[in-house]
Amino acid sequence: MLLQESRTARSLLSILFSELVRRVAVLQGIAQQETELHTQGSRMGFQHRRGTDTQTHGKPPSEVCAALCSVPAAKPKMPRRWPCVGQVKHHCLNGFQVDSYDVTVEEDLGEIQLIKIEKRKYWYQDDWYLKHVTVKTPLGDYLEFPCYRWITDEKEVVLRDGRAKLPRDDKTQILKQHRRKELENRQKMYRWKEWHPGFPLSIDAHCHSELPRDIQFDNEKGIDFILNYSKAMENLYINRFMHMFQSSWSDFADFEKIFVRISNTISEYVMQHWKEDFMFGYQFLNGCNPVLIRRCTEIPKKLPVTMDMVECSLERNLTLEEEVKQGNIFIVDYELLDGVDANKTDPCTIQYLAAPICLLYKNLENKIVPIAIQLGQKPGPENPIFLPSDATYDWLLAKIWVRSSDFHIHQTVTHLLRTHLVSEVFSIAMFRQLPAVHPLFKLLVPHMRFTIAINTKAREQLICECGLFDKANATGGGGHVQMVQKAMKDLTYSSLCFPEDIKAKGMDSKEDIPYYYYRDDGIRVWEAIKSFAEDVIQIYYESDEVVCEDVELQAFVKDIYMYGMRGMKSSGFPKVIKTREKLAEYLTVIIFTASAQHAAVNFGQYDWCSWIPNAPPTMRCPPPTEKGTVTIEQIVESLPDRGRSCWHLGAVWALSQFQDNELFLGMYPDEHFVEKPVKEAMAKFRKNLDEIVSAITERNKNKKLPYYYLSPNRIPNSVAV
Ligand SMILES: [Fe+2]
Repeated sequence: MLLQESRTARSLLSILFSELVRRVAVLQGIAQQETELHTQGSRMGFQHRRGTDTQTHGKPPSEVCAALCSVPAAKPKMPRRWPCVGQVKHHCLNGFQVDSYDVTVEEDLGEIQLIKIEKRKYWYQDDWYLKHVTVKTPLGDYLEFPCYRWITDEKEVVLRDGRAKLPRDDKTQILKQHRRKELENRQKMYRWKEWHPGFPLSIDAHCHSELPRDIQFDNEKGIDFILNYSKAMENLYINRFMHMFQSSWSDFADFEKIFVRISNTISEYVMQHWKEDFMFGYQFLNGCNPVLIRRCTEIPKKLPVTMDMVECSLERNLTLEEEVKQGNIFIVDYELLDGVDANKTDPCTIQYLAAPICLLYKNLENKIVPIAIQLGQKPGPENPIFLPSDATYDWLLAKIWVRSSDFHIHQTVTHLLRTHLVSEVFSIAMFRQLPAVHPLFKLLVPHMRFTIAINTKAREQLICECGLFDKANATGGGGHVQMVQKAMKDLTYSSLCFPEDIKAKGMDSKEDIPYYYYRDDGIRVWEAIKSFAEDVIQIYYESDEVVCEDVELQAFVKDIYMYGMRGMKSSGFPKVIKTREKLAEYLTVIIFTASAQHAAVNFGQYDWCSWIPNAPPTMRCPPPTEKGTVTIEQIVESLPDRGRSCWHLGAVWALSQFQDNELFLGMYPDEHFVEKPVKEAMAKFRKNLDEIVSAITERNKNKKLPYYYLSPNRIPNSVAV
């Protein structure tokens, strides 16, 4: 019997192994004289938690006992039995280390169905992370038993071999029962809870430490928002400003005091060009919130723009109506912000929100530029329509208000609700309804990594009452909750189907709108994911009937509909999936949202929002109600003060960072699948993704504003930051 133990290089504490007791196992009905059992473990929980170099010499050992559940060859219908085949004692090991143990087996065990690993607890924090177990037969065959779970306290894990099985594939009582028990246990651990009325349900846990050990971050300190924001401000040399609330900057150049040291190519370009109309328009296509712009098919009544107003902006000698008909007019409407309460948590600073409507025009250079902005939803004399032909500061302040409104929708709707909270729904449903042996669990679990954990931490420190979010954001103090509640009505299944959503907005024509890189790259990545999902489905579902009969899949889909979408028919989320085609689309929605969509709206936050006048997280004066009165002083007074600017920068910096050892799209180091066809499908997926990376790199060459957020080598597998 062989035992292999590995650890992450970071782990500096010792691991104690005990000896392994040897027995005979009979595999696949053939009597064997010797069997080898390999177990591979890593990431000892106590080392990461404590984060010190403490040595454990002299401490009592923790023990892990391995057992094989088998059906004897001679009596295949006999109920399970659990002969103990090994006892693992940890020895002091550092880094990745492998120990091998020979054991003697003298008993005919029959075909091995399950492996049970038990652990004895001897001292504080001796949790054990088991990656997988390999059983080797004397004939040289290997049976893999993936685990990738923590064994804590006095607990045990019972493992199936790595071949993925649908519920209908399991014929024996032992396997059926194991499947059922696993889900029963998971459903006790992963419970739904309503965080706020009308929200998609989230995990039932008050804090990160209450979460099941398997989904916690390795190092909770690493995702402490307070610590990370403070560290970011320190690294950016701006922490001297962090308590300077109510202290205004003197002019735009003054913002550079907190900017110049930390600028990068894009943010610097933003700083230099933020006032220009083309830059304002470009961000609707390729900034960090490229999801709001849509083609305008009719000028809404609430925006009474006339031809006179926009004539000097139109370049084709057409009327506004004709331009609309030709598809050259676009619109962004921030109606959702109408009626949302502004942050009142600081009595010394009154903060304001607006709900603008912005009309845009595709000019002869195919650039999208703004041509009219109304800052409120109700037209009237106190709600003028601002135009590029207005006084410089009138037009600039109107654009700043749109940028600020865009920031709010981006953070709360595009980012929080439509990637973080939605992915958490998929994740909880997966843990509750799909056992580890299910092919769709194996497919999805890498895309759910740390999602519940990051959201729980955010609810604990960031977006809770009195959380960090309140410090600098005008939608803090409860406004963000109202926004999510309102945005739920637009959270439809079709809006998460990327190509369909782009089409519904009238933004699908590459010919008409040539510089929409978010769309172009998004479609490529969507297609690659869909093709991968189709390949995997093809392996396990030989017909649509098999999809219909998969009770676990159907329970998963139903959970998402009932608890995630709150049973709202209008969401368009399916209650049941009947075909392989629909299943491929459904899985693509899940994987794309968790990976590509989140990357597109998360990792550009520093690029686009660090130059504060381009994305003010709050406004400290009400929107202007007349033209001709705006001064530079009024604009600076409206923009965030030094303290709020500083916290905002710390936030967008911290949120834009990749994690250490980030796993990017298609990287699956945990081998949940063992079948060759799936490994081939993964290799094909990675090849497709590599081609997309090359095409994007080529396209970006010599561009002043490269678009790289959807390059697969920059798309993490899951929502984890
Ligand atoms: Fe995020």
